[in-house]
Amino acid sequence: MSQFKVFVTREIPRAGLDLLGTRCEFTVGSYEEKPLAEAEIRNGLKGADALLCLLTERITREILSDCHVKIVANAAVGYDNIDVKAATELGIPVTNTPGVLTETTADFAFSLLMSSARRIAEADRFVRAGKFTGWGMMMLLGNDVYGKTLGIVGMGRIGRAVAKRGKGFGMKIVYTDQARNPEAEAELGAEFVSKETLFRSADFVSLHVPLTPETRHFVGAAEFALMKPTSHLINTARGPVVDEQALLQALKDRKIAGAGLDVYEREPQVTAGLMELDNVTLAPHLASASVETRSRMATMAVENIFAVMDGRRPPNLVNPDVYAARG
Ligand code: GLV
Repeated sequence: MSQFKVFVTREIPRAGLDLLGTRCEFTVGSYEEKPLAEAEIRNGLKGADALLCLLTERITREILSDCHVKIVANAAVGYDNIDVKAATELGIPVTNTPGVLTETTADFAFSLLMSSARRIAEADRFVRAGKFTGWGMMMLLGNDVYGKTLGIVGMGRIGRAVAKRGKGFGMKIVYTDQARNPEAEAELGAEFVSKETLFRSADFVSLHVPLTPETRHFVGAAEFALMKPTSHLINTARGPVVDEQALLQALKDRKIAGAGLDVYEREPQVTAGLMELDNVTLAPHLASASVETRSRMATMAVENIFAVMDGRRPPNLVNPDVYAARG
């Protein structure tokens, strides 16, 4: 039998490529820090049995219909970049990398929260600009974190890990979700509230929902109108969950005190005007970016490919209907 051929769209950590190389032939589409164009993806998929892709590649119905892959392994927990419905109809399993990035992502969300509360990015720019001419009682005053209310939107794995950090910092936890999470309530004393109550009462709102048609623009002008002028919004989920134009306006009008963003509505573009504001901390989609976690995400994607090669159901399948249809 000829060797299984894998197309890896862009560079992934060595641990992933080394593992892949033990059993497969593979090509890497690009070693540059930019997403592949559709034509490059199509070209790379010629003769490929599997696709290992990143969240920057849009894997459309057309691409899936024109190739012959037996699995699409996304090296990310979110998979809104893939037309999963089309993959399911075409009988192609799609996998993601849940669990391994939970703590790393939660660390980053909390770092953005702290940065927004205590104006750390702004303070760094202040010092670099030579403006630190002496200690000032009134200089760069921020907001306290301890004793405040942390509002978690989406109490899944990552939301709960962020809530745990909040509890460690002496915060009260409220959350909203499609369903209650009794374990989080028992562990953290988290209180389940309506969306409206959460936006009204939280001093920090942290988003942890996947991007779906229901969560697109989940936070917009109406939610900013509910928030307190001292509150902060943290987004490490997906950019389009927030109406970025409405956020820009809320930050400009000081309807809210600040925001910490790791993701953007039209990534990698940042809505014009946001970069000029001091009350927003901007990061380039880094939440899972630790050496350890990115390596584990890469090997996990490879393990899913190996499972399909061996005729097994991949451990991190997101479209189980593919297997249900196979009986
Ligand atoms: C990162 O955003 C991921 O979905 O893994």
